[in-house]
Amino acid sequence: MNNNKSLLQFCGRVLLTVSIVSGATLDGNGKIFDITHKISSESPIFDSKKGLGHFIWLVSSIKNGSKENASKFELGTHTGTLVDAPSHYSQQYYEEGFDVTTLSLQTLNGKTGFISPALVVDAPRNHNITAEVMKSLNIPRGVHRVLFKTLNTDRRLMHKTEFASDFTGFTKDGAQWLVDNTDIKLVGKSDAAPTHRILLKSREIVPVEGLNLEGIEPGKYAVYCLSLRLVGADGVPTRCILTA
Ligand SMILES: *[C@@H]1O[C@H](CO)[C@@H](O)[C@H](O)[C@H]1NC(C)=O
Ligand SMILES: *[C@@H]1O[C@H](CO)[C@@H](O)[C@H](O)[C@H]1NC(C)=O
Ligand SMILES: *[C@@H]1O[C@H](CO)[C@@H](O)[C@H](O)[C@H]1NC(C)=O
Repeated sequence: MNNNKSLLQFCGRVLLTVSIVSGATLDGNGKIFDITHKISSESPIFDSKKGLGHFIWLVSSIKNGSKENASKFELGTHTGTLVDAPSHYSQQYYEEGFDVTTLSLQTLNGKTGFISPALVVDAPRNHNITAEVMKSLNIPRGVHRVLFKTLNTDRRLMHKTEFASDFTGFTKDGAQWLVDNTDIKLVGKSDAAPTHRILLKSREIVPVEGLNLEGIEPGKYAVYCLSLRLVGADGVPTRCILTA
């Protein structure tokens, strides 16, 4: 009798455990947030007022008598939502071949079978991400993947064709603080050159830029980023999703 009861309790616990674990997988509760911006002719590009412009065209078209429609496109490697490779800011890493194909899938997607949670954190809107700000966010050690929601999201900068040079991002001391005092390997953010060098130096940190975090509540998610394997590329537009 007692045995049966504890067996039941045991089964109950197993079921509970299984449902918690499966609830954390990709198709758990079916909720997928697309945090990738669309790439269109109006997309902003670095330092330009006019945006991306015409970037895709038909090379064979049904209208012109072809059997199929097929297009070509031309994009900078740092267009839209994207990841950076170590070769982006280092001649040495470029020569050594640390292109986007060398980025860790583990870092970009977490451990297989289990979620390795990613945090979406609300960064203060009245500051860039300085060492002080990083300290105040209290991101625990052991957290490997963090997406920083900043004023850029509120300003909808990725929806504006004209590039805004006053975007919010990491300051040098903020980036250095992240490298020295956290275990973060995936950094979802957007900012300027000098901090990239700091983040990319170890070749372990992958910056993901231009994420669409509109409507995403701060909290714990699974994040998946998949990039094309473009040999020689120092960055590449990337599809990123969150699951709750
Ligand atoms: C289709 O034909 C027109 C007229 O010759 C030409 O201007 C256009 O570039 C062609 N488009 C494609 C995709 O071949
Ligand atoms: C194929 O291209 C023609 C232009 O040549 C366009 O009108 C048509 O919508 C395209 N079809 C598809 C399926 O994209
Ligand atoms: C962040 O720094 C940029 C300069 O890189 C500046 O234009 C902007 O105003 C700063 N933003 C905030 C919120 O302090």
